[in-house]
Amino acid sequence: MQMANTVKKQDSTVEQQSTSLLVHVGHRIVVAIDGPAGAGKGTLATRLAEELGLAFLDTGALYRVVATLMIDSNGNPERAEDIDFCIKAALKYITPELLSRPELRREDVAAMASKVAAVPEVRAALLDFQRHFAKNPPEGYKGVVLDGRDIGTVVCPDADIKIFVTADAETRAKRRYEEVMARNGKADYEAILADMKERDLRDSTRAVAPTKPAEDAIIVDTSSWGIEETFKNTLQKIRDNMATKSKEKAA
Ligand code: DC
Repeated sequence: MQMANTVKKQDSTVEQQSTSLLVHVGHRIVVAIDGPAGAGKGTLATRLAEELGLAFLDTGALYRVVATLMIDSNGNPERAEDIDFCIKAALKYITPELLSRPELRREDVAAMASKVAAVPEVRAALLDFQRHFAKNPPEGYKGVVLDGRDIGTVVCPDADIKIFVTADAETRAKRRYEEVMARNGKADYEAILADMKERDLRDSTRAVAPTKPAEDAIIVDTSSWGIEETFKNTLQKIRDNMATKSKEKAA
């Protein structure tokens, strides 16, 4: 939520409009945000969560915790005992603080996360954790925003709002390059692009819960939008989508 807190509420009209979005949903709200790495879904998800008064779960961080445990224990993601050890340790130690640790953002952790995320036992173990969070938002929240790859398709197929955020690979690699440059003072664009394409391929072609938009997802292509434009355009798309749904219900 740290990032969300730094994003200033710039426009009270947007705030009013976004709050009124929830009026039509009479129950706890679930917003599913999926998409590939670097599309801007994390920033959009935290911003929407803040505006709508919803709790936020970055589900990629769960896979990154398992990956960190695998790296730190010199494990092999293809060995069943190592997978079992990392799942048990992850479920024991996951806390909101752990999920926001900067070490989780390392490139080696991202690469390992993509490998452990393809293991069905890892997905099954984390599925329960994610569904529990979606059904039981922390106190004081009206619902949740989950961001990941399979939230709208597998974790919360009944989500009230499903968004699939995407952008072309070059734009996503450029954004990641700038992020790494700002953090480390050096970065290799070609290596980042190649790595991103490799991860996209593994994440979208794996047998279990591949990254893909749900049939009823709102598609948001951020290739030519900045943070603010993405946020405002997404709110508009959500409003249009909800208006269409309520017309369909009334018909
Ligand atoms: O969004 P991220 O880069 O932090 O995700 C890390 C890895 O975890 C990425 O390879 C995709 C995978 N992941 C997944 O398979 N399902 C999710 N719900 C979230 C992330």
